[in-house]
Amino acid sequence: MRGKFVAGNWKMNTDLASGLALAKSLVGGIAADGAISAGLASGKLRTAVCPPFPYISAIAEAIKGSKVELGAQNCYMEKPGAFTGEVAAAMLKDIGCGLVILGHSERRHKMGETDSQIKAKLLVAQGAGLEVILCLGETLTERQAEKTFAVLAGQIVGALGGLPVEALDKLVIAYEPVWAIGTGVNATPGQAQEAHAFIRSELAKHFGKAAADKMIIQYGGSLTAENANEILSQPDVDGGLVGGASLDAKKFLPILQAAVA
Ligand code: PGA
Repeated sequence: MRGKFVAGNWKMNTDLASGLALAKSLVGGIAADGAISAGLASGKLRTAVCPPFPYISAIAEAIKGSKVELGAQNCYMEKPGAFTGEVAAAMLKDIGCGLVILGHSERRHKMGETDSQIKAKLLVAQGAGLEVILCLGETLTERQAEKTFAVLAGQIVGALGGLPVEALDKLVIAYEPVWAIGTGVNATPGQAQEAHAFIRSELAKHFGKAAADKMIIQYGGSLTAENANEILSQPDVDGGLVGGASLDAKKFLPILQAAVA
């Protein structure tokens, strides 16, 4: 049985004080909620926060002793060295991160990240001992042109092609349709389920059914307290990667409740 994994992607938001306040209200809210606490204790639920780089160490202190995991939103594709302005996966591991988000659509589309760069980052990150949340997703134009499956298949090959099945051990996939991110227009439960089932079938094609059946595939794109119940109850939706609603504990906690319902 796959559990659920709900991660908050804070993007380039919060300042130090508001980030700390957010982390504290999240930890407090979890402790006060029996169902979420039980889910986290039993391993049926995982949750994480991914703050901006400058605040990661401070947030690590704020969530210490809780079941909230810590992630970063990106890393560089090389080991530590002369790469001015970049952050190495090993540094993230060093300061307490267990996770890193790679291939987020904002990085693919606003920073021009390519599949081969994402694959290089994934290898370096896993090599440093980080678990990777690999984001996939089609644009609106691609969906309207009925290219969704082709795009997802291409992104899977681009990031994971030729890797051994062990690469899936430290991997979570996030299906994030670009048109749903930050727009308030979420994928319908049916659209999410269809894409997740397709991603799982592609993983099965490359890595075998047993490995694919174990994979956590998160949904991301305007996931909220209001739509989480329906989306997270789809059979191939194993949690969420949450942007906007992760910036307020009052909005994030109900998503965790939906995940353990
Ligand atoms: P959103 O972002 O929840 O604000 O749509 C999701 C994401 O980009 O990870």
